[in-house]
Amino acid sequence: MSSELGRLIARRIALTGPISVADFMAEALGHPRLGYYRRARPLGSAGDFTTAPEISQMFGELIGAWLAERWLAMGGPSVALVELGPGRGTLMSDALRATRGVPGFHAALRLHLVETNTALCAEQRRALAAFTPTWHERFDDVPPGPMLLVANEFFDALPVRQFEKTPHGWRERMVGLAPDGESLMFALAPGVTPFARFLPDAADGAQAEISEAGRTLAAAIGARVRGDGGWALIVDYGYESGSAATLQAVRGHKGVDVLERPGETDLSAHVDFAALAVAAQAPTFGPVSQADFLQRLGLLRRAETLKARASEDQRREIDVTLARLIGPDQMGTLFRVIAVGDGRSIPAGFSDAS
Ligand SMILES: C[S@@+](CC[C@H](N)C(=O)[O-])C[C@H]1O[C@@H](n2cnc3c(N)ncnc32)[C@H](O)[C@@H]1O
Repeated sequence: MSSELGRLIARRIALTGPISVADFMAEALGHPRLGYYRRARPLGSAGDFTTAPEISQMFGELIGAWLAERWLAMGGPSVALVELGPGRGTLMSDALRATRGVPGFHAALRLHLVETNTALCAEQRRALAAFTPTWHERFDDVPPGPMLLVANEFFDALPVRQFEKTPHGWRERMVGLAPDGESLMFALAPGVTPFARFLPDAADGAQAEISEAGRTLAAAIGARVRGDGGWALIVDYGYESGSAATLQAVRGHKGVDVLERPGETDLSAHVDFAALAVAAQAPTFGPVSQADFLQRLGLLRRAETLKARASEDQRREIDVTLARLIGPDQMGTLFRVIAVGDGRSIPAGFSDAS
């Protein structure tokens, strides 16, 4: 049995024909009434997944240190501090607590949160009230001027198109109706896709994804830091090069079928970091693994400080969270970090520009 949104999508396809995977994903996540990111409370142990800032306060604290270091490198201007998809506000609240002692930083910043989920906006309001944030539905609505931006697990929620290489060339994978006239199924579009010129040479059967939304957003961020000054830090799971079909669905911390129960299921795709760097058209640093990035920022030292005043149980808990953040079998290598900025200096956690 599909979801209410699944039935709406099936009706649309019956009337107007198959839709791209990107259109399906945009509806499933962003439908104004029934989209997953419009209505659900997705994060935490009671939700569908958990994220690095929800695992440990150290994650947001170190990102706070990174932001303050970049602000100092910019010469300490008035700055828009922007977070894309702040979830429960945990990362930003840890970042701001950790930077209370940086002279002038908090007085220089105005907090801008880009979020579409009203339930999460309410949680962000509670967590960040002291900083009187302004909310926006889109990055383009953030007022111009120097900017520091952070996005953790945001780009993976942006729609992707999917493609498959056939003996006749690259064809787009579409979402259509199964023979029962009700359930959804994947099928290849008949002709060669006009996106073929953006896709690599590959053997028959190869699969690939393109996120137009991700590239467009990276271009807007790049234009902003080139024009007005500033830095963006993007953390997500993804790949550095190559191509694959990575779209996945998660409900209640378990992998499920992508087309089953849209609106009630989290959909995400691995981020193509090389494509973001090209689209940004600004100096880009990384990607580096989350493990390398956090350790270069002093994660292990911070963990030792916390452990020094912790109970035996808390010390064990800190070791477990460390393993989750940097373990190669957990978030350590799958998650990567890039920075985009003015390129006048090398940001902490990175070695040089790409
Ligand atoms: C996977 S959660 C990550 C939350 C948070 N950054 C963290 O690390 O805990 C994705 C966040 O982006 C928001 N979001 C997803 N798609 C969005 C969109 N198109 N526009 C604005 N916010 C969006 C979600 O509501 C949520 O806050």
